[in-house]
Amino acid sequence: MPDSWAELPPTAGLPPRCADLWPFGAHVPLLPPGIAEDAALLLCSGTAALVVALQTLQRCSARREVVVPAYTCPLVALAVAHCGLRLRLCDLAEDSLDFDAAALAEVCGADTLAVVVTHLGGRVADLATARRVADAAGAALIEDAAQAWGGRHGDAPLGLIGDIGFFSLAVGKGITVYEGGLLVARDASLRAALRAQAASTAPPRLGWELRRSAELLAYHALYRPLGLRLAYGWPHRRARRRGDWIAAVGDDFDARIPLHGVGAWRRRVGERAARRWPAYAQALREQALRRLPVLQALPGVKVFVDRAGDSGAWPFLWLRLPDMAIRDAVLEACASLRLGVTRLYVHALPDYAYLQTVVGTAVDVPRARSLAACSLTLTNSLWCDDAAFARVREILQRVLSR
Ligand SMILES: Cc1ncc(COP(=O)(O)O)c(C=O)c1O
Repeated sequence: MPDSWAELPPTAGLPPRCADLWPFGAHVPLLPPGIAEDAALLLCSGTAALVVALQTLQRCSARREVVVPAYTCPLVALAVAHCGLRLRLCDLAEDSLDFDAAALAEVCGADTLAVVVTHLGGRVADLATARRVADAAGAALIEDAAQAWGGRHGDAPLGLIGDIGFFSLAVGKGITVYEGGLLVARDASLRAALRAQAASTAPPRLGWELRRSAELLAYHALYRPLGLRLAYGWPHRRARRRGDWIAAVGDDFDARIPLHGVGAWRRRVGERAARRWPAYAQALREQALRRLPVLQALPGVKVFVDRAGDSGAWPFLWLRLPDMAIRDAVLEACASLRLGVTRLYVHALPDYAYLQTVVGTAVDVPRARSLAACSLTLTNSLWCDDAAFARVREILQRVLSR
């Protein structure tokens, strides 16, 4: 159990070490396992990576629409809008985090520039279906692997199965350089085009680099069970008490997307942390696989897992509860315990007031809305020991049996 002051993080970020800040030493590439150095490009965020990907595709196509899941990070919608493209939402399949295949085929057409297939919560999406539908429409396939660093589909690393893929290196996402993104592509000529686009879209900017470097230092100082209470727990609970879940989970994004480079020192910090990633990812996976059956045994609870042969990342465990009242009662019962129980994105994309001009209002996406209303996440941080996990399970059991 966390001690009386400690706070568990909502996701399993790789705990930083002071030694990561040392700028010298052997070069280790900042890459997910299985991806070669020349396949990847470091950018200032996952969102910036998506902007660069879309702008690159726009250069050789007059198509105007980008298809994204109706439940995903609002930054994805803002990136599409930033590029002057039209967002087309696709609802999720029943009881799934993935596109509904029939709905996907329906929304894709002659104007579809790209389909953004998304490994939400680290779970591996159905890439074969997305590929088939994107190919049939003549659209590019972009893999949003923001939350799936190091995941695999069979033997293939996530990110390289689509035409373009991207990962996030933001806070809480495993390895971090405070804000960062990795853009990857298999095809060498596409990579050259992405590189050229990135140089003009996101050039080095000293002011941003100084700001992000200071934020990364603060992150190193505070990413520990006590510091997290100050940096995450207090603001999170204050926002919840105001009834402002959007602020509580950090869904309140600015439409102005920072676009700049990543300096050598931050890259080096990420590279040093990346050396610890394989062992850490394995420990997360083992912990998740041990805990999944315990959660699956709870009546009426759906736990999202990977299909056989796929192996995603495990930043948190994602549960769907029988209804919103039960979900909210569990969140309420966990509220003051600092056990890393929270929600992912608060709404389906059409339900964020600030996205109204981007999404439009008359979009019917009932399954995305239902997932937003009934799901919650449990941290998979290694700081969540068996006693803390047992406490969460007891709360779930108690609320479910009412
Ligand atoms: C699914 C998904 N896509 C894209 C992004 C954007 O990544 P970043 O925060 O690095 O800009 C995020 C961030 O949380 C995400 O979860």
